[in-house]
Amino acid sequence: MNFHILTLFPEMVESALMTSITGRAAAEGKISIRAVNIRDFSNDRHKKVDDYPYGGGAGMLMQAQPVFDAYESVMAGIPDISRKRVIYVTPQGRPFTQSMAEELAENEHLILLCGHYEGVDERVLEEIVTDNISIGDYVLTGGELAAMVIVDAVARLVPNVLHNGDSAHTESFHGNLLEYPQYSRPEEWRGRHVPDVLLSGNQREIDRWRRREAEARTAERRPDLYERYLALQACEEFLLKDKLHHMDMIELIRRGRARLLARQGEEILLEDTESHMLFHTMPGADRKEHAENSVCNRPGILCAAHRICLHQEAFVPLLAGMGYRQEAVCLQSVCTRKEQLPIRGLYGADGQPVNGLSVRFDGVCATAFLDGEEAGSVRLQRDGSIGELEVLPQYRRRRVASALETCLCNQLIQKGMTPYGRIPEENEAALALQESLGLHIARGRVYVMS
Ligand code: ADE
Repeated sequence: MNFHILTLFPEMVESALMTSITGRAAAEGKISIRAVNIRDFSNDRHKKVDDYPYGGGAGMLMQAQPVFDAYESVMAGIPDISRKRVIYVTPQGRPFTQSMAEELAENEHLILLCGHYEGVDERVLEEIVTDNISIGDYVLTGGELAAMVIVDAVARLVPNVLHNGDSAHTESFHGNLLEYPQYSRPEEWRGRHVPDVLLSGNQREIDRWRRREAEARTAERRPDLYERYLALQACEEFLLKDKLHHMDMIELIRRGRARLLARQGEEILLEDTESHMLFHTMPGADRKEHAENSVCNRPGILCAAHRICLHQEAFVPLLAGMGYRQEAVCLQSVCTRKEQLPIRGLYGADGQPVNGLSVRFDGVCATAFLDGEEAGSVRLQRDGSIGELEVLPQYRRRRVASALETCLCNQLIQKGMTPYGRIPEENEAALALQESLGLHIARGRVYVMS
């Protein structure tokens, strides 16, 4: 991830961002941060970059030419411009949120333009800017602090910028809850004690206490977030009535990555905030009228979606009419066990590795090796399901697939998740594999449209 900051105060930006975690990440080559001095691009003899606004009014404006030339100098160094965004930080922008940070983190290049004086000539903004972002309803003296806030929030989401792999997902805003209170040594400080439960060693009780505290804190400090949290809890409770068929949606909620786009009685439409895939259900819907009155018909609700997973066939023609194409009809397989699965094929009865088979997991993909040669892989897909299981032909019938899937399930179980996958209904071999591993196959079909 490369950050380019167009500014009149490069030293301000660099001195702040080149320290602490962002500085370390830049030194380690995980991100790059470059401040570009707009003044260097002024054509004026005195390096002037501002002028009076046409039509009169208070203050000066940044002129179009130096801003544009500074931008062009950055673009000249970016050969592939497909994954770039140009952000103008302004109090008139969209309010910055964690989900915007997550979305921005998917780009290769972020170019941030910091305004000064009374603003920037509109014409250059029209020419180059893709996003207007505000960091809050207050006015700063310039855009630098706002740009630094955005760089910091995005940089920490870049893989391996935070050294503790899990911490990006356990902090405030995860699943619409603020973080629970934390305590460190000593046990007693100025007469205040660490809550007994945290010293109990009972992890189940600790988790329960933390959840209650997070809920209470959110209800008190952020009633807006708490309302969203309660709405998703109500959805989860409803979806649990047909648990296997809805495990994809339940897991989105439990993993804190679901956004409730619409709920109308028994109809639910969720967005996965990471893959942006949509998930829809209306249990029992089997008639045309159901689809006609569906939330999917609300203007604009489906426009940005790349893919949608429907849980009832009745909605397939509706989506087809909107231009969606049916990708697959699948059955969901769900691993309901809380304990680790026994890894058949990897270890013998004596617990020793057999067959020269080993599996490596990099956080997303599990890869199997047989006698040192890559034999196959399976991955945790962007939407949270297990998929893309593949075993090279010469290594088939040697339990590679079962070892791969078991390893990935165990990784997820260890993190407190319920592993699940979508298996095309005609793929009998894959369905048989699921059952042999003790996974449950949901009876209801799901329809993936894109
Ligand atoms: N520039 C000045 N104030 C700002 C704000 N609140 N957000 C983003 N950019 C700004």
